[in-house]
Amino acid sequence: MLSSKEYEEIFPALKRKINGHKLIYLDNAATTLRPKEVMDAVNEYSLNHHANVHRSTHTLAAEATKYYEDARSKVANFINSETEEVIFTKGATESLNLIAYSIADSNILRSDDEILISTIEHHANFVPWQQIAKIFNLKIKYYPAKSGIFDLSDFLKHITNKTRLVSITALSNVTGQLIPVNTLIKQIRNIRQDVIIVVDGAQAVPHLPIDVKKMDCDFIAFSGHKMLGPTGIGVLYGKRKYLNEMTPFLFGGEMIDKVSTDGTTFNVLPYKFEAGTPNVDGAVGLAKAIEILERIGMDNIQEHEKQLTSYALKKLKELDFLEIFGPQDETQQSIISFNIKGVHPHDVAHLLNDLTGIAIRSGHHCAQPLMKEFGTSATCRISFYVYNEEEDVDKLCDGLKKVWEWLK
Ligand SMILES: Cc1ncc(COP(=O)(O)O)c(C=O)c1O
Repeated sequence: MLSSKEYEEIFPALKRKINGHKLIYLDNAATTLRPKEVMDAVNEYSLNHHANVHRSTHTLAAEATKYYEDARSKVANFINSETEEVIFTKGATESLNLIAYSIADSNILRSDDEILISTIEHHANFVPWQQIAKIFNLKIKYYPAKSGIFDLSDFLKHITNKTRLVSITALSNVTGQLIPVNTLIKQIRNIRQDVIIVVDGAQAVPHLPIDVKKMDCDFIAFSGHKMLGPTGIGVLYGKRKYLNEMTPFLFGGEMIDKVSTDGTTFNVLPYKFEAGTPNVDGAVGLAKAIEILERIGMDNIQEHEKQLTSYALKKLKELDFLEIFGPQDETQQSIISFNIKGVHPHDVAHLLNDLTGIAIRSGHHCAQPLMKEFGTSATCRISFYVYNEEEDVDKLCDGLKKVWEWLK
């Protein structure tokens, strides 16, 4: 890993002062800071090569198309998929909506089929399934994670001979619990071969090496902005056999093959799912972000965050005015949720910002079913990325003591 001075050069925001204090950014699960290199790459593309892609024959159009398709190859290589299995979307939310709607609309799911999701999911991997279950008359089953902790063997008991689709997060955006998805997928496949497995990779893909072939998921969804890329770009990876069978989600533009008054045929993968003018700037930025992550090394990132998380858990546990949620063991990575007993998390977040310049998240984190399991409506959440270090944790603990003194 690089030194904090080196990270300050890569991420200009790290040099900012908030109320006279050096910014400590601990809200990476919401979105990560921007590297200058990513924005330079987007600008270079935008100012010198921008045109619409896949359409015109002039030089700029050819260059823009190359930038866009090179970005797709970069993503494919990053997750070890085939290039045409990578679909650019607006983000993980759109990717999950796309899968849910399209798979239901394609009759891949039948009216008695069960969709299994868990109560630890982000709303983006919860609500789309509820909605399509209503529209297409499917059954939805919930795995109730006791005390908000996902338990693999307990989860597997919920697979029945009617289960046709499982959608699960690979890393909880509230507790930081790393779900053993590779083992889970193997075990589901041992029980039932034909279960479609969707992975919400929004929090996992930015933080650990992901190999979709090894994982053997059918789909994985993630967002560029949680992994140093721009907002408005995300990815849906899907196995070709399903993507080929699925009806498109949005219509118009490059997803078309032939249109006549008799009807319309659709383009091949991946264009079939990319209606309208795509976010080329976003794709270019995401490709540059991946280059930076690969330079640091995904194994190094995972190891760094594991160590930082265990250090933070140890330090936070020393503060007896805190209630900490989540497994609090080696399965926890990069995210920790807690509350100061008797104090609203928004007050904690405000005061930390104002008194110490530390940015944390407070709220339900788009995971209200999980909040219910915890018996609360909101938590404080800290989340790490490559540029965080133990000193940030020490300052956070000092800050929390100040907030506690202020409010108790
Ligand atoms: C686990 C998880 N899934 C999905 C999403 C949705 O991502 P986006 O808002 O980038 O579409 C998030 C964002 O916080 C998340 O943490």
